[in-house]
Amino acid sequence: MLAEEKYIQKIDIKHRKKFAQFFTPLPIAEFMVNWIFKDNNIKTLLEPAFGLGIFSRLALDKNKNIKIKGFDVDKTIYSKASDNFQNSNVDLYLEDYLYNDWNNKYDAIICNPPYLKFHDYKNLETLTEIKKKLGVNLSGFTNIYTLFLLKSIYQLNQNGKMAYIVPSEFLNSNYGKNIKKYLLKSQLLKEIIIFDFKENIFDKAITTSAILFLEKTQSNTLNFTNIDNIFQLNNFDNVKKKSYSYANIDYNIKWKKYYQKQNSLKYKNLIPFNSVAKVKRGIATGANEYFVFNIEKAKKYNIDIKYLLPCITASKDILLPIFTNNDFNNLIKKNKNVFLFNGVNKQNNHIKDYVRYGEEQNIHQRHLTSKRKPWYKIENRLPAPILVGVFNRKGLKFIRNEANITTLTTFHCIYLTENLFQNIDIDLLFAYLLTDTAKEIFNDDSREYGNGLKKFEPNDLNNAKILNIFDLDVSIKKKILNLYNQYKDEVVNNKIESQALLHEIDTILQNNFSDVNSS
Ligand SMILES: C[S@@+](CC[C@H](N)C(=O)[O-])C[C@H]1O[C@@H](n2cnc3c(N)ncnc32)[C@H](O)[C@@H]1O
Repeated sequence: MLAEEKYIQKIDIKHRKKFAQFFTPLPIAEFMVNWIFKDNNIKTLLEPAFGLGIFSRLALDKNKNIKIKGFDVDKTIYSKASDNFQNSNVDLYLEDYLYNDWNNKYDAIICNPPYLKFHDYKNLETLTEIKKKLGVNLSGFTNIYTLFLLKSIYQLNQNGKMAYIVPSEFLNSNYGKNIKKYLLKSQLLKEIIIFDFKENIFDKAITTSAILFLEKTQSNTLNFTNIDNIFQLNNFDNVKKKSYSYANIDYNIKWKKYYQKQNSLKYKNLIPFNSVAKVKRGIATGANEYFVFNIEKAKKYNIDIKYLLPCITASKDILLPIFTNNDFNNLIKKNKNVFLFNGVNKQNNHIKDYVRYGEEQNIHQRHLTSKRKPWYKIENRLPAPILVGVFNRKGLKFIRNEANITTLTTFHCIYLTENLFQNIDIDLLFAYLLTDTAKEIFNDDSREYGNGLKKFEPNDLNNAKILNIFDLDVSIKKKILNLYNQYKDEVVNNKIESQALLHEIDTILQNNFSDVNSS
């Protein structure tokens, strides 16, 4: 049994989570070590997030004379690893890698770094240290795995080789931009191997992963390879790659454009979504427990309903794609949280009391409220005609907001843009948004959180593309609207979402927009 398997059996998951102890599966560790040892003369090796040293064990199998150094911050795992590596060329340190060993360089570095959000990590000083040493600006959203990566690059010897397995998140997120910029500038990154497994390769950790191979030698191409099952690693040289020269890679955009098949390529006549609509996030109150109201709470504090702003506060309150006044009234009757306190410029005593109560609770000193004037003024967001769910397992959830009420950040708001040249028919747009074709094309611009969980920030949608349904023949548009109206009737009157009707709209889209020239 592997040392890691024994460890998992004995040690509580809470402890493992605290230190991000998710171990590299053996076939992946072997693949990484094999690459490091291919045509190379390695004398020194660093394993910065040692754990039980799976990479070092495999490296010693290749060459028992190399000198290895390892770091780990957890006493428990460190003492087990020290026992396992007695009398070997491995020097282990119970120290934080990010703060130590800056002055040493290595022929090889192999790592599965801890995936921990910065605010779970004790100290912000490392950001300053990294900035000073490497000249990279990093935001507080940075995950510490990227700091491990940058520090290791700094510690690589000329001709040295480095293999890292990391969540692929930074390739497609805002905080990753500066890291990608640095990777391009330093020209060490040779291969990115992106896993798109149906199952998680790290038990219980919700991440999709990528292996990065870096080498301190001159060359200016970067290869991207998609791997969808672990067996492809055995036959890696024959798996199809996409090669780009550094000059043709843009750190500002999501890199999935370079490695993932773009769904939009199958279609013709696409336009940017932001040419017809603008997506903004919903209202952030900064203290939902204070601002959110239901009818009972309004009675308790004697707040008249006219001082409350109708607002969707939970995504589970909207079950169907068309949200009507009737649905809203039903939520009120069920005493759901569907209002926000709206006390600005109201001279009523009960309003004043509730504002005072908020101050007694220090609500006015919260991060967001302290920046507003007065602190209890909620953001000015007009109700949007279409809403869209933020986190999705099954694809985007669009809602036609016929009740015309505002929303908290659980939904993004979609407003139509004023367009002199084109009259945007909102029902036509909404009919389109409901289709699988629309969702498939939007997925090109999603960011992924592993386990199939997709997230769209407002700008992901703003930058996405849609089919130009507005330029279709009038007769086709009429057909779509007719199908949509039948669909809507079913939803509103019978609470049924007819997939058959949506499927018919999809077929119209496929017939009119499929690009026969695309492969
Ligand atoms: C994802 S595990 C990888 C373990 C092992 N190398 C493997 O691949 O199976 C990350 C390891 O880094 C350790 N760790 C967490 N923060 C660290 C830090 N700041 N410095 C050094 N090690 C750290 C954890 O205790 C854990 O053992």
